[in-house]
Amino acid sequence: MKQALEKIELLAKAELEKITDAEQLEAFRIRFLGKKGELTSVLKQMAGLSAEERPIVGQIANRVRGGIEAELAEKAAQLKAETAARRLREERLDVTLPGKAPRLGKAHPMDSVMHEIEDIFIGMGFDIVEGPEVEYDYYNFEALNIPADHPARDTQDTFFITDNILLRSQTSSVQVHVMEDRKPPIRILSPGRVYRSDAIDATHSPIFHQIECLVVDKGITMANLVGTLDTVMKRLYGEECKIRLRPHHFPFTEPSAEVDILCFNCGGKGCAMCKGEGYVELLGAGMVHPKVLANCGIDPNEYSGFAFGLGLERVTMGKYGINDLRLLYENDLRFLGQF
Ligand code: PHE
Repeated sequence: MKQALEKIELLAKAELEKITDAEQLEAFRIRFLGKKGELTSVLKQMAGLSAEERPIVGQIANRVRGGIEAELAEKAAQLKAETAARRLREERLDVTLPGKAPRLGKAHPMDSVMHEIEDIFIGMGFDIVEGPEVEYDYYNFEALNIPADHPARDTQDTFFITDNILLRSQTSSVQVHVMEDRKPPIRILSPGRVYRSDAIDATHSPIFHQIECLVVDKGITMANLVGTLDTVMKRLYGEECKIRLRPHHFPFTEPSAEVDILCFNCGGKGCAMCKGEGYVELLGAGMVHPKVLANCGIDPNEYSGFAFGLGLERVTMGKYGINDLRLLYENDLRFLGQF
């Protein structure tokens, strides 16, 4: 038995040498010190020993067990230290390395321009309102004094859903909703999408954006229209910006005008952008037609108003010198990142 114990002692020493991780160490513990382990099975035979032999063998057994336990503990500590050292080595973090900057998004140029315009108007006491994009013929045309045989109603130009329902071709439809819902004084701005059956090219798109402005009150005149436009355009394009009104026709305004601004590219000298004109066309405007006021239940003898509608794409392109409308819709970050 003594020999058996000493054999276990030697074997345990040799096995322990080979151990490299905690799993192997646990297997070792079970093998040598466990309930069904090598040492226990030898100790079980002690019952068969004589009274003189038992304490001697017992002592050896205790020494062997103590020795293995001590070495096991030492090995465990060594493995733990090694693991900790390895983790320190492998998981080292260099806090002096430059960080990865998160990619910041920003507003689309048309959104920025729209917010800028909204801010200017809010500052002047206007409300921002929205209107439906799917619209009755009545709001888009009839109430705006556009008769049934008017060329603007041609299906070539307008997307009809039924005879009576269409995708609005202008935000002027919102004028009617607002005048039906509110009593003067009215000061609103209404941005939104409009639809026209146009082929896509550098200056046309079947979907684009307009911003409608409507003011109705007692004593509103053309001077208020010009003053408002002049103020807004100077805020938007800078103090040197000039506006120019040309007589025009819209069924829902009388008198009507097309409004140009001094070419932001050449400052009026004439260039490719303004086609040699010195001015670029920006919007349609006029005094709200008395028939339109009456259609909306507002007495044209008591009240008057002005309205204008401007193309958001055109304003954005002018402000940033963009020469192709399609760039605004393609969502190419290389393009959008420039603004
Ligand atoms: N709705 C007109 C258009 O789309 C613009 C306009 C708005 C003209 C308001 C006069 C008054 O061309």
